[in-house]
Amino acid sequence: ERSYQVNQQGHLTIGGLDTVKLSQKYGTPLFVYDVNHIRQNARAFVEAFRAHNVKAQIAYASKAFSSIAMVQVAKQEGLSLDVVSQGELYTAIQAGFPMERIHLHGNNKSKEEIEMAVEQQIGCIVIDNFYEIELLQQVLQEKQSTMDVLIRVTPGIEAHTHNYILTGHEDSKFGFNVNNHQATEALTTLLKIDRITVKGVHCHIGSQIFETDGFEMAVQRLYQMINEWKNSFQFETDVLNVGGGFGIRYTAEDKPLPLHEYVDALIKEITQQVDHYQLTFPEIWIEPGRSLVGESAVTLYKIGSIKEIPEVRKYISVDGGMTDNIRPALYEAKYEAVVANKANQSPDEKVAVAGKACESGDMLIWDIDLPKVKNDDILAVFSTGAYSYSMASHYNRFPKAAIVFVEDGHDALVVKRETYEDVVQNDLFYE
Ligand code: LLP
Repeated sequence: ERSYQVNQQGHLTIGGLDTVKLSQKYGTPLFVYDVNHIRQNARAFVEAFRAHNVKAQIAYASKAFSSIAMVQVAKQEGLSLDVVSQGELYTAIQAGFPMERIHLHGNNKSKEEIEMAVEQQIGCIVIDNFYEIELLQQVLQEKQSTMDVLIRVTPGIEAHTHNYILTGHEDSKFGFNVNNHQATEALTTLLKIDRITVKGVHCHIGSQIFETDGFEMAVQRLYQMINEWKNSFQFETDVLNVGGGFGIRYTAEDKPLPLHEYVDALIKEITQQVDHYQLTFPEIWIEPGRSLVGESAVTLYKIGSIKEIPEVRKYISVDGGMTDNIRPALYEAKYEAVVANKANQSPDEKVAVAGKACESGDMLIWDIDLPKVKNDDILAVFSTGAYSYSMASHYNRFPKAAIVFVEDGHDALVVKRETYEDVVQNDLFYE
């Protein structure tokens, strides 16, 4: 089902490199990203818009995985960047990312975050709530500056996805609701502020989406509003940002569309709406996170203890788990894996892959068929490029894992493994 590359030693390879050798060179747990794969995904989006000859910005949602090296790759591919915090913005600054292609998100942006965005003259702030409008106005006044913004609206579209990651629902902490006129009130408030230019509208309907209908419904709903705004305020929407959420394959159950199909469907729907209301065609922005990096990485673990409960289950434990990938514990997310040093062997038993943290819920995979394993075998878990390292924690005081980029037969360490000194670096003696 899943296709992966195996070399003559029977070892799993990624980007042409032997994962077993990488695990020996860098230790485990180790994230290995195939940079070429990220570039191909980025180019698929770029090409999809180019094919329709429409103006677009593809903003990598860096919450999926932010590091200086990753931001460099996004820059090289001509992407824009979606940041949701001062930490992600700081990372982008350190990486030398062009500030005019940065968009700042967040449902509770602090004054410090807004100040940093204004000082750096980032491309735009996505306005989420009324309090933020006050803060931004204050900062712009103090700094005698200006800012372009989008208005984040909640169109009340429910995407078919896991509840925990639904963000486009009407009962949402994000954005201005469309149905109760809060969005229109936000527009009228913003239009009165000279230092602010409203470029358009933003919405994000959810994550890990496998159909285009949610996006189409959202576009329809937004255009009713955009048309009202045109008629009531002569307001022109130059930018329509439809967020991210394009699904990826974790297991065989997941059936993502080719990336260009989401773009094709969006452009088709927007074209219809624009024609219907006789409006001008907007610049389209999207914010893919998972779909750019999710399938581009594997995590390598070393197998340690093995516990068999006859007729119940066989647990094989690895040297990481919820501290480097909390998704199974948090969302019941499913993953596939192979034994990297036995990648040419067919499975002979059903096992459960347990993490190392002191918590029964720290299970990476409940059911998987693997060849018989022993301690020191290397387990490779697929599709861990998004929301794994970025959601890592120090639970049990495990140091965070290392990250390696591979491309064209080369491997490069891009995030160092933490040391125990790193783990206690902010601790102070009580005296
Ligand atoms: N834009 C906005 C406004 C978002 O809230 C998100 C994700 C994205 C873009 C990127 O969505 P993507 O293309 O990556 O689906 N931790 C969860 C996912 C949370 C997504 C939050 N927002 C998980 O591991 O599944």
